[in-house]
Amino acid sequence: MRETPDASPRGTILPGESRAAAATDQPAADRPATDQPATDPPAMGEAVPDATTREVENPVVEARGVAMAFGANTLFRDVSFQVERGEVFVILGGSGCGKSTLLKLMIGLYEPTAGETRILGEDLQTARADDRRALLARLGVMWQSGALFGSMTLLENVMLPLEEHTRLPRAAREQVARVKLGLVGLSDAADRLPAEISGGMAKRAGIARAMALDPPVLFLDEPSAGLDPITSAGLDKLIKDLARDLGTTFVVVTHELQSILAIGDRCIMLDKQAKGMIAQGDPRELRDHATHPTVRAFFRREAI
Ligand SMILES: Nc1ncnc2c1ncn2[C@@H]1O[C@H](COP(=O)(O)OP(=O)(O)OP(=O)(O)O)[C@@H](O)[C@H]1O
Ligand SMILES: [Mg+2]
Repeated sequence: MRETPDASPRGTILPGESRAAAATDQPAADRPATDQPATDPPAMGEAVPDATTREVENPVVEARGVAMAFGANTLFRDVSFQVERGEVFVILGGSGCGKSTLLKLMIGLYEPTAGETRILGEDLQTARADDRRALLARLGVMWQSGALFGSMTLLENVMLPLEEHTRLPRAAREQVARVKLGLVGLSDAADRLPAEISGGMAKRAGIARAMALDPPVLFLDEPSAGLDPITSAGLDKLIKDLARDLGTTFVVVTHELQSILAIGDRCIMLDKQAKGMIAQGDPRELRDHATHPTVRAFFRREAI
């Protein structure tokens, strides 16, 4: 854990979210540009332009000035961030602020109203059909709902991506799928149907399926919601281990504060009122130094 609030590559805090005044005794004009509001700081509750996004050389996932609206309903504007290899990047924010939509944008299911997203250097919106298909095969996605096929056993669900994207013989596909189910503690449930398992088990099966092809990038939408604390901690450990040992990159939507602090290298926080990002940085630094009332309240579990 980083204890000093000094500028650090992982500790970027946005202008509206600048570190507590006590964190620096330099006058504003002398502070490094990354810590300094560009001109007038935006009013509280306004979208904060990400003037401080740090540049990564070969980002695995990248959003630049992304905006999204459904009709007249603008969800967010000016969302920019970069995720580097092996990083666990967390997206936070209250219900309805657009977290799941942002994930869907990143994997090319929606077209942003402005800006662009890239994964492994490719823009899914503009990629040729072949490149797009190849890229999608390299992404693992676990949806918020789990989205398992009800008529197939867990084993068959996890084997599905292997069937679609590899030429492995059935026995090899089955072996890989069993390994993935084992990773999420579902070895004994391989032959059960989704209707015969608990919600937490369905989540874990969804993660096993997302991991089937050993993707270099995994998008997980609320992986630990509804899981008991022990299973949830086990899942956190699995994410951390994969990121550290295999260099798997994770983009995770989660509300679980303990989980965020345990696994998140960096995070962004979206806000419905602000229609954009209100914080970006190391979650532990945000917990300790955030001044924006919503960000503070979230990390300190306070009512506002
Ligand atoms: N396809 C769609 N068409 C129209 N509106 C949509 C669509 N998808 C999402 N929305 C709206 O966009 C807003 C954000 O939805 P989203 O699912 O991204 O929120 P979220 O931050 O993931 O919330 P939660 O924490 O509850 O999962 C909601 O008001 C939702 O109704
Ligand atoms: Mg959601």
